[in-house]
Amino acid sequence: MRILGIETSCDETSVAVLEDGGTILSNLISSQVDLHSRFGGVVPEVAARAHIEALDPLLEDALEQAGTDFGGLDAVAATLGPGLVGALLVGLTAGKAIALATDKPFIGVNHLEGHIYANFLEHGPPEPPYISLIVSGGHTMLVHMKARHDYEVLGQTLDDAAGEAFDKVARFLDLGFPGGPALDRLAREGDPNAIRFPRAMEASDDFDFSLSGLKTAVMRFVKKERSQGREPDPADLAASFQEAVVDVQVSKTVRAALEREVGTILLGGGVVANTRLRGRIREAGEREGLRVLFPSLALCTDNAAMIACAGYYRLEVGERTSLDTEADPGLPL
Ligand code: KG4
Ligand code: ZN
Repeated sequence: MRILGIETSCDETSVAVLEDGGTILSNLISSQVDLHSRFGGVVPEVAARAHIEALDPLLEDALEQAGTDFGGLDAVAATLGPGLVGALLVGLTAGKAIALATDKPFIGVNHLEGHIYANFLEHGPPEPPYISLIVSGGHTMLVHMKARHDYEVLGQTLDDAAGEAFDKVARFLDLGFPGGPALDRLAREGDPNAIRFPRAMEASDDFDFSLSGLKTAVMRFVKKERSQGREPDPADLAASFQEAVVDVQVSKTVRAALEREVGTILLGGGVVANTRLRGRIREAGEREGLRVLFPSLALCTDNAAMIACAGYYRLEVGERTSLDTEADPGLPL
């Protein structure tokens, strides 16, 4: 089965062609980073317009690279939500129009489910149950997946998302936008134990997260040092901030797996590209006898192959999405 995937939930336009749920024939991404960087963040109206401009040529290229055309597709999958409504509308409307014109089944995909299913592209479908940590620019969420499409949200952030915290601290350190990858690189030269930032909610017996206090703690620390005539080392700041984020994420994810007696952990979302998080969760998994899977770097951040893959597993169980279905910026998992 050959599925066309379309993803436009935030600031990447992406189109993919996926065969039989696991073979990526094409997965093209047009990033809008340069457009938004001068504003220091994603501007929704600018994102929607850029998706409109990028989508048509990207569709053509993705089909050509996959050696197919609209007639060679068996189904169409597009992101339904969550995301920026204007951005979502562009890809969703295109997907529905292609499905209608080619008379092929349409499936609307939850973006968060896409991040989880990115793991299926490279590791094959692991046997449920799983504990899944989704950490992206908009979400920080710990989920117990008892079966393929049966989710229990165990906890989430009470304030900032993990990627948002990385981006805000990176902006404070003048690392540009989006700052997550730059902060990750800088942290490699720093000492993660140089400054002991608070690990908010690490010891709480729920599975929620809180990240806005950490960002404030970093800013307060820098102010205090400067007031005493010292300039903190940016690499130590980056490494110590990152360590505080990663400590809480790793310990809560592992605790969820042990408490729920689940042997497999799946990570998803842009922040999973973080070197320290990947290393630390892998170590913790080995120590506790848990299987830990995460996507390769290119499939951690937003892409349409993961949307086509999540769509494949929905279509496989007979699901279809009506063409009347509208974009849902707050779509829950
Ligand atoms: O999943 P994603 O591509 O988009 C959303 O669905 O939000 O995630 C983007 C987020 C951004 O906040 C970006 O700074 C962060 O992922 N990110 C990282 C790294 N690479 C991307 N954060 C920390 N370390 C990284 N290496
Ligand atoms: Zn995402």
